[in-house]
Amino acid sequence: MKLKKNLVAATMLAGSMTALSFLSAGAAQAQGALVMYCGVQEEWCRAMVTAFERETGIKVSMTRKSAGEVFAQVKAEAANPRADIWWGGTGDPHMQAAEEGLTVEYTSPKMNELQDWAVRQWEQSKKRTVGIYSGALGFGYNTELAASNKTGELKCWADLLKPELKGEVQVADPNSSGTAYTLLASIVQIMGEDKGFEYMKALHKNVNQYTKSGAAPAKAMAQGETTAGIAFMHDIVTMVVDKAPIKVVAPCEGTGYEIGSMSIIKGAKNMENAQKFYDWALTANAQKLGAEAKSYQVPSNKSTPIPPQAPKLSDVKLINFDFAKYGSSEERKRLLSKWDNEVKNLPK
Ligand code: F6P
Repeated sequence: MKLKKNLVAATMLAGSMTALSFLSAGAAQAQGALVMYCGVQEEWCRAMVTAFERETGIKVSMTRKSAGEVFAQVKAEAANPRADIWWGGTGDPHMQAAEEGLTVEYTSPKMNELQDWAVRQWEQSKKRTVGIYSGALGFGYNTELAASNKTGELKCWADLLKPELKGEVQVADPNSSGTAYTLLASIVQIMGEDKGFEYMKALHKNVNQYTKSGAAPAKAMAQGETTAGIAFMHDIVTMVVDKAPIKVVAPCEGTGYEIGSMSIIKGAKNMENAQKFYDWALTANAQKLGAEAKSYQVPSNKSTPIPPQAPKLSDVKLINFDFAKYGSSEERKRLLSKWDNEVKNLPK
């Protein structure tokens, strides 16, 4: 009887020890983990994960998504956030998330190493998002396909409306893609809203596909699947570096640009690690990984060299992009639903 009692007590003790060791293993794991939503090209996302894991021992679980998609996911998960850090992607959904209270304030000790435009993004978002890179929007064309379609030289946004380009222009959907939202906001700022929407409707006639990701049209041009593609110029340059017969165009009417951003998710389960990643991602060394992964944006750390392949922003007619207005929740929602209602489903 006594033996049986002892056995029961021993089994209970062993059981609770196992439960305890599970608990502490869980806690140790939580300390060493970081969940990241990544908004740049997969190669750069992976290079960041590998380097950060190597330097800190923190295990990163990363998912790559387009800017609008990350915003939608972060919003849907707000009651029980899965991600800790949102690194990369155009600034507009980061600004919208800041305004909607989905991300938190943070002041990194690295702020004084950053370019003014990166700090301004942080100030405008009330410390909830910071600039990590910048790059201008443009388009490109496959010179071999352009010759066979007799499009002539393409220099301006207006040239993308040429009848020779019917079904030959590719661009992403602005609901999912920050690149395409930057196009919509830029065209509205360059031409005014009425003329801008007329332009988007005329462009629609030439569009063969609205892709999910912003860089997809650059890849499609390189593979000879579309004559012209609208994308950030740095994404088109990546294809040219890989020897694709593509000409990169800085549109003659002027163009918009992005401030790629980073934010910490409100309610992050690994808050300390999110801050560690944030500080590390702003360092000059971490920012060098972009060019090594063939991503040619302009880095926000003043000491990171601008990759020689990066499009020269001084040669591009940049507009005075109103990031506060076009990143505001109200304006972003309004423009996207107007585009859905007036452009997306128009017959061709
Ligand atoms: O990394 C490429 C890139 O163009 C970034 O410069 C930009 O922030 C992001 O992709 C936008 O991606 P998407 O248009 O798919 O949201």
